[in-house]
Amino acid sequence: MGYRKFSAINLLLLTIVFYVVRAENGVQVLDDRASLVSFMSQITHDPENAFENWNSPDVCKWSGVLCDENGNRVVNLTLSEKSLQGTIAPSLSKLSYLVILDLSGNFFQGHIPAELGSLSRLQAISLLSNRLEGHIPNELGFLHQLEYLNLGSNKLTGDIPISLFCNGTSLKYLDLSNNSLTGEIHWKNQCELKELKYLLLWSNHLEGEVPQALSNSSKLEWLDLGSNSLTGELPSKVVGKMVHLQSLQLSYNRFSSHFGNTDLKPFFASLANCSNLTELNLAGNHLGGELPSIIGTFSTKLEKLNLDDNHIHGPIPPQISNLVNITLLNLSNNLLNGSIPPGLFQLGTLERLYLSNNSLSGHIPPALGNVSHLGLLDLSKNKLCGAIPDSFGKLSQLRRLLLYENQLSGTIPPSLGQSINLEILDLSYNRISGTIPTEVAGLSSLKLYLNLSSNHLQGHIPLELTKMNMVLAIDLSSNNLSNTIPSQLGSCIALENLNLSQNIFEGLLPASIGNLPYLKELDVSFNRLTGEIPDSLQASSALKQLNFSYNSFCGNITKNGAFSSLTIKSFLGNNRLCGSIEGMQKCHRKRTRNLLVAILLSLLISPIFCIAGYPLVLRSKFRRQSLVFNLKGIEDGKEAMRNERKYPRISHRQLMEATVGFSPSTLIGSGRFGHVYKGVLQDNTKIAVKVLHSKADGEISWSFKRECQILKRTRHRNLIKIITVCSRPDFNAIVLPLMPNGSLENHLYPGHGPKHGLDLVQLVSICSDVAEGMAYLHHYSPIKVVHCDLKPSNILLDDDMTALVTDFGISRLVKVADEKISVNDSAVYSFGFTDGLFCGSVGYIAPEYGIGKQASPQGDVYSFGVLLLEIVAGRRPTDVLFKEGLTLHEWIKKHYPNRLEPIVEEAIERCAPCTTIQHDSRKIWHDMILELIELGIICTQYNPASRPTMLDVAYEIRCLKQYLYSP
Ligand SMILES: *[C@@H]1O[C@H](CO)[C@@H](O)[C@H](O)[C@H]1NC(C)=O
Ligand SMILES: *[C@@H]1O[C@H](CO)[C@@H](O)[C@H](O)[C@H]1NC(C)=O
Ligand SMILES: *[C@@H]1O[C@H](CO)[C@@H](O)[C@H](O)[C@H]1NC(C)=O
Ligand SMILES: *[C@@H]1O[C@H](CO)[C@@H](O)[C@H](O)[C@H]1NC(C)=O
Repeated sequence: MGYRKFSAINLLLLTIVFYVVRAENGVQVLDDRASLVSFMSQITHDPENAFENWNSPDVCKWSGVLCDENGNRVVNLTLSEKSLQGTIAPSLSKLSYLVILDLSGNFFQGHIPAELGSLSRLQAISLLSNRLEGHIPNELGFLHQLEYLNLGSNKLTGDIPISLFCNGTSLKYLDLSNNSLTGEIHWKNQCELKELKYLLLWSNHLEGEVPQALSNSSKLEWLDLGSNSLTGELPSKVVGKMVHLQSLQLSYNRFSSHFGNTDLKPFFASLANCSNLTELNLAGNHLGGELPSIIGTFSTKLEKLNLDDNHIHGPIPPQISNLVNITLLNLSNNLLNGSIPPGLFQLGTLERLYLSNNSLSGHIPPALGNVSHLGLLDLSKNKLCGAIPDSFGKLSQLRRLLLYENQLSGTIPPSLGQSINLEILDLSYNRISGTIPTEVAGLSSLKLYLNLSSNHLQGHIPLELTKMNMVLAIDLSSNNLSNTIPSQLGSCIALENLNLSQNIFEGLLPASIGNLPYLKELDVSFNRLTGEIPDSLQASSALKQLNFSYNSFCGNITKNGAFSSLTIKSFLGNNRLCGSIEGMQKCHRKRTRNLLVAILLSLLISPIFCIAGYPLVLRSKFRRQSLVFNLKGIEDGKEAMRNERKYPRISHRQLMEATVGFSPSTLIGSGRFGHVYKGVLQDNTKIAVKVLHSKADGEISWSFKRECQILKRTRHRNLIKIITVCSRPDFNAIVLPLMPNGSLENHLYPGHGPKHGLDLVQLVSICSDVAEGMAYLHHYSPIKVVHCDLKPSNILLDDDMTALVTDFGISRLVKVADEKISVNDSAVYSFGFTDGLFCGSVGYIAPEYGIGKQASPQGDVYSFGVLLLEIVAGRRPTDVLFKEGLTLHEWIKKHYPNRLEPIVEEAIERCAPCTTIQHDSRKIWHDMILELIELGIICTQYNPASRPTMLDVAYEIRCLKQYLYSP
């Protein structure tokens, strides 16, 4: 309930009431002595030795005791703030000349002795702040001289005795606040407390209406009934007579406005005569109605106005700016709409302004120079738009600026950096763009927090941010901030909470962050961070909550230190992490050794196929060399993985320029999921832009985002490399390098143009490239990927005819069921294309897909087999030739092994168009084509389980290629 200190008033009144009382004789002093000793005997604990001198002969010299001027009778007993424990002895009632009794601020327990009601000379009682319980004795009301009664902050229960209102006619100050009093305020109409100036009943459980009789107390200056359960209309008739009213607190009750809670005007009008009103608090009553413009006729002395937590609707009347002495205005949590009256920002005395959680719209008015005292401005949770006014920088006293959850746009004004007293800056959940100005980042005054999350900020974290050495929390999440996380953040020494998630930060997570001594929560999820998670984080004793998920961290995680309470949830989507967290893949000793095992395995497996009836005649010749070759190829892929790509930022506008506004003339392809355009960036990079059809449901943008995260992790010289991704709510595109030599499809079937088919060396090389790329996807990529749609049109050829597999990212990525990845994780990577019917193109689809099998690497191996046969036969798998019910591979199989000669001959003719072919090279070519056909047949076996893996296939073709170069 805020500050409620009336000790000053308390003292004042008690001294006013100081009296000189004549005593008749010394016998009565002795009686007083006996009473006091009896009182002292009930004190069980006196830690401050308040009774130190209470054994001296002269009672009047005892501490806390004051006698009348003749030294005969005790008139004043003041033992406040002495930490006394015990009960209040009824024997005090023998101090019959007592005028002032002050036992406030102790730990007295038990009841208030009803006997005190016999001390008829008492003028002031203060039992404030004790632990007294039970009812307030009715007898206190019979003390006719009592002007001051303060029983506040105890544990008193029951009704307020009627006698206090009806018989306590001298009362000027009545404070029963902060107890547990119940019932209605029984104040009969004939009862009057004409002298009452202060009535404080706040924080009890009082019910019913404000009694009409209170209006007779026309000298009331302070009326505080806050935090009860009072009902009825706001007491306009009662307060209308209280012209001296300075503070009126009716907050947190169940009052309503007039005419069925629709009109505040009658009550506001009744306050018009309160010319000294400095504080009005009606918060938390569910009051309905508009804010009446009559508010402008309130006393100009009004300093604090709280109307928050009501149901007040409509606009804020501009007349509010008549309240020229206002320091606190709280209209938050209402239903106010319209714009903020500019006059509000001209109220020179304003220190705190709360307008949050309304429906205010329009721009934030500029702050004029004379609102120089503004320390807190909370405009959060409205519909404000436009930019943050530059003039806010003039608010040199501003300590808290809360503008979150609006629709603010533009950039953060650098002038805010002049608000050198700012402790909290919260601009989160707006549409603010641009970079974080260095001036603002350098606000070393920020003591509490900086929240810029969920905006459109970009650029890097300014190093100036590291000057915030007092700030407790920094939240920059859900922006487009990029570059590395500066290790200097470690100088934000007081940080307890750091959230950098959902940005595009890359590089290493600085170890200095783990050294922040108070850091409790760290979230860096959904970025592009690489490398190992620094040991310092695990070693931190303060860190409690950590989220590293969806980055490209690598290395070994142990469930120790700060990580001991973490689950896999904190590490999801980092497929190069391994370790002992439940659900995380186990670490293998060493990656290269693992690869070696795989290679050795493939060496073992190959002969099995050989035995199975498909003699691959050339295999044994060059196994040794190819092992080296093999390792190198894999190292290439790993290298690519290690150098996590730094994606340039290419804006939608740049893509528009590059593709002449996505004009039809630049359209180079279309598919189920979108169009592909070619274009040239300003630096002359030729690009292909794959634009996804936008779907209203947002589904595609979600999976797009995830796909892109996978795409950027799959890196191999034979897989298309994305240049960047451009993603906006309404536009999703992947930017790829434009392949000058087009697709394999163009070369296999050059159409009407001059036939410049590929020669056999090129073909074998392309097959090898494709196999290597596919092997990487299936076996070495951090996320295993099933392509699902391998076919010539998805194989692109670059300058030197290196083949690159493409189109493995767009909506066809399917997570391989893999025991290494937890159920949750694989759910994240499934794209809703688990149904085989969606997978692949006619002619290349593995037969098992037709019977509802999930996409699998074996399906890709099948497609690759078809591709091999297609290359050799020079015919599409859908060619009319095979319409007799046979597929391409079935047709070839039918001719295998004895009737293949015409096919081989035809292939040699087709693939060696130039120069005469020497006899021995013709023999080599013959064997080569035969090998390819055999491999194609193995790959297209009906039973998926008996097909080789892409690793095996890649190995075989690598051997062929070697043989071709050096027979
Ligand atoms: C009498 O009581 C008042 C109020 O508690 C106190 O301020 C004052 O000092 C007392 N007088 C003496 C002489 O103790
Ligand atoms: C208290 O006031 C009521 C009503 O005015 C009166 O009837 C009653 O006699 C008074 N009691 C004492 C003890 O003064
Ligand atoms: C208002 O306050 C002033 C100064 O405290 C006082 O002199 C004046 O009488 C008060 N007016 C009313 C109507 O209470
Ligand atoms: C503003 O308040 C101060 C002190 O509270 C007072 O002296 C001054 O007269 C008030 N101004 C107006 C215009 O009422």
